[in-house]
Amino acid sequence: MKSSRRSFLEAGLALPAVLHAVPSLATSPGAAETIPSKDSSFDPWVEIHRENLRHNVQEIARRAGARPILAVIKNNGYGMGVANVAELLEPQSEIFGFAVVKFHEAMSLRDAGIQKPVLLMGPLDEKNLLEAVARNVMPMVYTPVGPALDKIAAKLQKPVALHICVDTGIGRVGVPYYEFRPLVRDLASHKSAVIQGTMMTFAEDKEFDKEQLRRFQETCSALEKVGVVLGKKHAASSFTLFQHPDAFLDMVRPGMAIYGIYSENEFRHAGVMDLRPAISLKARVAYVKKLRQGDSAGYNRAYLAKEDVWVATLPVGHADGWPRTAAKGAKVRINGELFPVIASVSASHSIVEIGREERLKIGDTATLFDGNQGSRPEDVSEACGASVYDLTMHLNALLPRRMV
Ligand SMILES: Cc1ncc(COP(=O)(O)O)c(C=O)c1O
Repeated sequence: MKSSRRSFLEAGLALPAVLHAVPSLATSPGAAETIPSKDSSFDPWVEIHRENLRHNVQEIARRAGARPILAVIKNNGYGMGVANVAELLEPQSEIFGFAVVKFHEAMSLRDAGIQKPVLLMGPLDEKNLLEAVARNVMPMVYTPVGPALDKIAAKLQKPVALHICVDTGIGRVGVPYYEFRPLVRDLASHKSAVIQGTMMTFAEDKEFDKEQLRRFQETCSALEKVGVVLGKKHAASSFTLFQHPDAFLDMVRPGMAIYGIYSENEFRHAGVMDLRPAISLKARVAYVKKLRQGDSAGYNRAYLAKEDVWVATLPVGHADGWPRTAAKGAKVRINGELFPVIASVSASHSIVEIGREERLKIGDTATLFDGNQGSRPEDVSEACGASVYDLTMHLNALLPRRMV
């Protein structure tokens, strides 16, 4: 968040890709020294909209009946930068804490000075576990790790706060619900373990989710009846926020909804929550040219000009996180108009069709997605089949991030 890349973008500078296009910069030897960045201003960048993030959190809290929100900020904060997002969300009282999957993300939150609880949902070896606990990061556990917890607690002179993950039918990590009781009894027998939460993940199948919830509640209440403390129970991702109000439990655990994106297209029109995209991907037009009738564009001549047509090259491709499938129907907004992506998306380039007139110029800002109708991530997803999760989470972590 404090990187020179951002300050560069915030200065709003636009260096020309072709230096002779702007003679004053080409001839000024000092110009480059004033820019503390190795990025070209044409390079794609990610914008993060603070106000929309704040709005989405309030919408989720309203929907969840003011239950606390454990914000899922894994996978580089859904493309926005894990520390960027945590720093923006931490001051909001609705946010209880943060959940990540990678150990390095949990550490970078603490390095960034994040104080609220952090739940680490990914796998850990003993060394990681020690370091996580030392930095007040709660591990998510689902195996009999009591002896390791005892060692760590003795070393750090404090008990280990943790959440237990129960698998009620998603079949990935988590103790199977029918083996949950012996595991909890085992963990509870170690004084070093403090169970602060118990969680599950839905398969997001409307009917089967109900069975998963039944399994979870039955297993939890059997243990609670005999005095076992399970802490805060949580299960609700964005899908659940829309679909299963009976599964909000003690705390909700969304990711995508916080970033203002509907995880399913049908939710856009459900009137349940007003979500405003908090992430945009932008770049500048690198080149504009006319293809003559019969000319081709893209690898394998993916596009053939039926008539003379103007096209623009954008310096953004699949290596930046812009999906290859964008060439199958996505549109990009430039100067207020939507232009189709054509040919093929290569590692670092995309091509858009402008039409019979030139209309665009080098340096114009191209919005690949943002919060406007027609260019929302959900619109891109609908147009070309790329999941909104891919659009955000696959954004190259090295792209500059800019707060707006
Ligand atoms: C365990 C867990 N909980 C919650 C979430 C949040 O999901 P979503 O972004 O769909 O709200 C995820 C994300 O995949 C997850 O893996």
